[in-house]
Parts: sequence; structure tokens; C-alpha cells
Amino acid sequence: MSNSIEEIKKEVEAFVVSSEAELEAYRMRFISRKSIIGELFGNMKSVPAEERKAYGQDVNALKNLAEERFQFHIDSLKSGSKKAEDHPDLTLPPIESQFGTIHPLTATRQRFIEIFERIGFNVSSGPEIEDDWHNFTALNFPENHPAREMQDTFFLEKNPDIALRTHTSSVQIRVMENEKPPIRTLSPGRVFRNEAISARAHCVFHQMEGLYIDKGVSFADLKQTLYHFAKEMYTKDTQVRFRPSYFPFTEPSAEIDISCQICHGEGCNICKYSGWVEIGGAGMVDPNVLENCGIDSSVYSGFAFGMGIERITMLRYGIKDLRLFTENDIRFLKQFNSL
Ligand code: PHE
Repeated sequence: MSNSIEEIKKEVEAFVVSSEAELEAYRMRFISRKSIIGELFGNMKSVPAEERKAYGQDVNALKNLAEERFQFHIDSLKSGSKKAEDHPDLTLPPIESQFGTIHPLTATRQRFIEIFERIGFNVSSGPEIEDDWHNFTALNFPENHPAREMQDTFFLEKNPDIALRTHTSSVQIRVMENEKPPIRTLSPGRVFRNEAISARAHCVFHQMEGLYIDKGVSFADLKQTLYHFAKEMYTKDTQVRFRPSYFPFTEPSAEIDISCQICHGEGCNICKYSGWVEIGGAGMVDPNVLENCGIDSSVYSGFAFGMGIERITMLRYGIKDLRLFTENDIRFLKQFNSL
């Protein structure tokens, strides 16, 4: 009897399983109730009582071995089919690759730079975390100006004041401190103001500021430059108007309006039925600002302007809600595929 246990053991070890059918054959032969090992258990009664214990132990060991090998065969069949996945079917149609698109704000910034590079402007940049001097004091902000208040500015430290820049005019100060006129520069960048988020305003947005300092620069140059800009950014028939305004760092100062790109003057809710939309501020650089930066205001003059890239982009593409720029909705971004 123990001889046959020994033989079955050899057979279990030698059994080759390389398919589901062979696995089933193995199960029938060694694992199922009617298997030869099952039969060995059935024979138990006919074993003489004094040998029964040893016999039982041998048959049990054989049964355990057969079950271990069974599990082993199941596992190796499984990992064999995984290997097939490593070699994909090259005749299947490909997974379509998804190309990213240029963000509309990036497209507008690039177009802005293109327009001004052609008339001799370069591009400058500066830190988003600014000190009081570059963001306010050098720009002629009076001590008690409301923009300095906590409500408008995100202060990181007080005394000495460190804040997130509220405009990129701070970059213009840095350029004027470090370069000699003539200066023609564009300062694009992210700016921060403590404003409630709505369809028209955000606490983080982008500006494009421009600065031109040279001998004999006049308000006529400012107007012609911005006329040129509006016609290049929008259409040749775009109208521009200037409204008197106030900024601490320019004198005289103006708000820049363009004819509404959405309704073309007929009246819509974007232009609040006026036919005009404000796109930014501008003015002649205040002599105090030039002097603060070590530029002789009796020799040099200049103009500056500042615009929100979001606003310019909304008018360019007819986008009605500025929050779309940062929501990262693929359905919105895909519409700019052709950029
Ligand atoms: N810095 C101003 C702002 O952020 C815009 C501006 C720039 C106005 C230059 C006039 C001249 O509101």
C-alpha cells in the first residue's frame, strides 16, 4: 500500500499543467473525491489496525502535497496569461493621443508681446512678492492711500511691509532703477488683490503694463501707441477713447475704453448698453516717480499703461465669465484648439 502512495507522490510531482484542460485533468486525478488520493482514504478501513495511524499520516501528507501543487499550477497559469498582456496586440486601433491647447490667456499675452515687440518694446519681469517701495512708495502712493489697506492688498509682513504685488507697475520701477532711458518695456505677470471672485473680478489675475521713457515723449505718443494696439489686438475699425482719471503715478491720467467687441456699439450687457468697454488705465509718468528711480525729469518724460489680460481676452473671444480661465474645464479649453 505505502508503495502505491510513493508512486502517486512521484506522479503528482511529475504532472505537467500548461492549460486549463490539464489543470482539470490534474484536479480529477488527485484532488476530487473520486481521485486516486480519495480512494486511498476509502481504503483506510481495510488497513490493519496497528498500521492505520502511519497509513493515515502518509495519505494526509500526500493529500497536502497534491493540494499545494494544485495551487501552484493555478498561479502559474494566471501569471502566464499576464505575460500575454505584456505583448499587446499590435493590430488593434491606437488609443488617440490628446494634445494640450494653448491657454487663451497665454495666447493673448503672446499676441500683446508680438504687437509691442514690433514697435521696439522688450519684456521685463519681477517678483510676485514685493516690498512697499516697489509696489507703492516709489509709485508716489500717499501714505494713507486706500490700496495700501488690508482690504485691498494681501500683506505677508508689516513693518517693513511685504505684500503680494497688486500690479506690475512694480516691475516698471525695477526697470527704471536699473536701466537708463530710452526705456520701452512690457511687464506681463500675475497680480493679487483682495477682491471677491465673480464673473468680472478675481483675487488673482494677470496684467500687462507698458512703459516708454525717452526725451520728448508726449501724450500724443501714448494715444497713438494705444490706437495702434487696439487695432492690432482687435480689428482695424476698433475705436478707442480716453476718459480723465487719477492714478498716483501718472499725471495726467486716463482710463482707456474701446468700442464693444461683442455688440459693436449696438448695446449689450457686456458694455452695459454704452457701446464702450474699459480695458485699462494709462497716463504720463509722474515726475516724482522718475526722480524716485534716479531719472532726471527735466530731461526725460514718458508714458505708462496697464491692462488686465483677462479682460482683453474676454473681449477677444466673447468670454462672459472670467472664472472659466482657472476652472480647468476641458470643454472650455478645447475651444481654443486652433490657437
Ligand atoms: N497700475 C495700474 C493698475 O493696476 C494701471 C496703470 C498702469 C494705470 C500704468 C496707469 C498707468 O490699476
